Parts: sequence; structure tokens; C-alpha cells
Amino acid sequence: MSQIYMDNASTTSLSKNALEAMMPFLTKEYGNPSTVYSFGRISKNAVEKARENVASAIGAMPQEIFFTASGTEADNWAIKSAAELEASKGKHIITTEIEHHAVIHTLQYLKRKGYEITYLNVDKNGRISPEQLHAAIRPDTILITIMTANNEIGTIMPIAEIGCIARERGVLFHTDAVQAAGHLPIDVTSMKVDMLSVSGHKFKGPKGTGVLYVRKGLKLPSNTHGGGQERGQRAGTENVAGIVGLAAALNEAVSNMQENNMKIKNMSNRLIEGILKIPDSQLTGDMVNRLPGIASFAFQGVEGESIVLLLDQMGICASAGSACSSGSLEPSHVLKAIGLPHVTLRGALRLSLGEDNSEEEIEIVLEKIPQIIARLRGGPSY
Ligand SMILES: Cc1ncc(COP(=O)(O)O)c(C=O)c1O
Repeated sequence: MSQIYMDNASTTSLSKNALEAMMPFLTKEYGNPSTVYSFGRISKNAVEKARENVASAIGAMPQEIFFTASGTEADNWAIKSAAELEASKGKHIITTEIEHHAVIHTLQYLKRKGYEITYLNVDKNGRISPEQLHAAIRPDTILITIMTANNEIGTIMPIAEIGCIARERGVLFHTDAVQAAGHLPIDVTSMKVDMLSVSGHKFKGPKGTGVLYVRKGLKLPSNTHGGGQERGQRAGTENVAGIVGLAAALNEAVSNMQENNMKIKNMSNRLIEGILKIPDSQLTGDMVNRLPGIASFAFQGVEGESIVLLLDQMGICASAGSACSSGSLEPSHVLKAIGLPHVTLRGALRLSLGEDNSEEEIEIVLEKIPQIIARLRGGPSY
């Protein structure tokens, strides 16, 4: 049986175009971009071309693009830098209850250093309201960090409104756009963001690559010290092939976004419609404001991990909504935040689709999941 991959929010396969663009830099074009001879200039030019391409994909200028080694690194850099830059103004940061751990754990680190963090509540669909944000801003607020779209339930936040408020109130605004980039149109100007994080492997780019957009005029403290790479702000020899691959994949994703999203949306609608026929099941996240590829559910009286393990036995890759830490299954902070009742909190399942999925795969999954749920609930086994 061939594998059915429905965990694209976790990672994606590498695009063929991205691989082709990377190959020369993994083989014959191995010059160091920091050297002055022409062999090194080939690598340097490739990095700068990639920077231009990434900038144009998100409505930025090339000098506003910094390459990193992950979305996590971009989030860490943005948040810690804002804290350091603005420390004389205050130590209050606003975020939401449903951020990725790359943001939450960075904020917990800052809390230990004396910063105060306000976590905005989300509604049952996972959204905050602009009014809540307005009310939370104080004279000592130095940063608002709110994700563009959530990785577990796919909810899209009202980012442009948040950006307007942040700008109006003179507070720096960072958004973790790791799940959104390549899947939703991103325009840093209309979003009014000061910093925005991207990760290559969420849109068919290579793993271990990322981008931090930093608005012109905002000079962040250096992330690493050493050489002059990334205009001295992130020292370390560039991952030339990774950078080239990220840019190629992002360009491809942006060019094909409309067509891909139409196909993906049709498949996820069919999936949602079919799965919601299972008794005591519900869709999690916002019905309207959601990433096209994320179909996330909660089932009463079953463990999400058990569903995932049984799907795995059938060659289907999916993920549950909870993280497994030190042997105890902690329910997901996102599902807790949207107020899922206790009986469904552990029964989360996320199926995240990409353009490589097919309608046939959807039908197979729709046949298997009801059987799995019935079996786990102690009904007839198949
Ligand atoms: C919303 C969000 N932020 C950050 C990250 C981390 O990105 P990376 O895997 O590139 O470190 C992820 C990865 O799942 C994510 O979904």
C-alpha cells in the first residue's frame, strides 16, 4: 500500500523546482559567498537573487530580508530583539494563548528575565478581537506578537487590523507567518508588520531554512556575532543551497497559490463534510477564516494519538492535537484555549493537505477514519 501523506502543516515534500535550483550549490558551485574571487561571487549572487525573490513574494525590499535556519530562529530573533531594543520604554509584551511554542517558550524565557506577558484569550474559533488588543495595550507595551495563522486549527487572525492598531499605538508588531507564507497572500505593507517569520519547509522548500522580515529603519541587535554575513546581523556562512531552495519554493507557491488553494480547499471541504458525519465529532477552528489545507477535528471519547497510530498502520500520516511530553499526554494549549470540553480535549486529529494529495486519497481516508473511531470507541472492529 502506498503512503498517504496528510501532515503538510508539519512539513512538506521538497518541490522538484526547488531541488533543481539547489543542486548546483550542493555540487559544483561550492564557493564561499564571502570571498572576493568570481567563484565565490556565484554563490553570493545566488543568495542576493534569492533575497530579491523572497522580498518580492511578500511585498518587501531586499534589504528587509534576513535568512535564518528555521522559523523558530526567526521567531526567537524577532522577539528577543524587540525586547532588547525597547527595554528602556517598558517590559510588557502582548501575545495570544494559541501561539506556536517557538513564540511561547521565547516569551517564557523573557518572563524569567523580568518581562510581563499578556496572553489574549481567543474565542471558540481561535480568533482574538481588535477591541481586546486595544484594551490590553499599556504605555509600557513594547511588542505585540500574534501569529498570522494557527498551525493546529488553521485559524487566520485579523492581522491587518492588528497591524493598524499596533502602528496607531506606536508598538512594534511581529507575526509568525510560518503556516501562512506560500499558502495565503502576504504583503508586509498592508499587514503593517514590523517583523514577520517564515519557514522554508512549510511550502515545499528545504528544512532548516527560514526568513525574518525586518521593516526598513528597524535595526535589530545581531542574532549571532562573527562574520559580516546578512549585513553583520546574522554571522555565519550562508546555507546557499537552502536559501536558493527556499526562494524557488516560495516563488513557485506564490505563483500557483490560487490554483493550488482551489484544489486543496475542495479536498478539505469534502474531508470536513465526510468526517463530520461521524457521531460526536466536531471541526475545530474557524469555518471561514481558516487555512485551506488544515482540516482539524475533535472526537469525543477517543485519544488523538490512538487515531494517529491506527492511521499509521494503514499507511496514512496525520497528526494529533496534543504533544506528548515525558510519558504523559498533555492536551494541546490551543485546544484548551478554544474551550474544548474535557471529553473531546484529547481526541484531536489534524489532517493537513497539500497540492500533491488527490481526491482518491480523500475517499480512502474517509473510509478508514469512521472505522478507526468506531473501533476505539469499542464498537465493531474491522
Ligand atoms: C506557526 C509555527 N511557527 C513556527 C514553527 C517553527 O518552524 P521551524 O520548523 O522552521 O522551526 C512552526 C512549525 O511547525 C509553526 O507551525
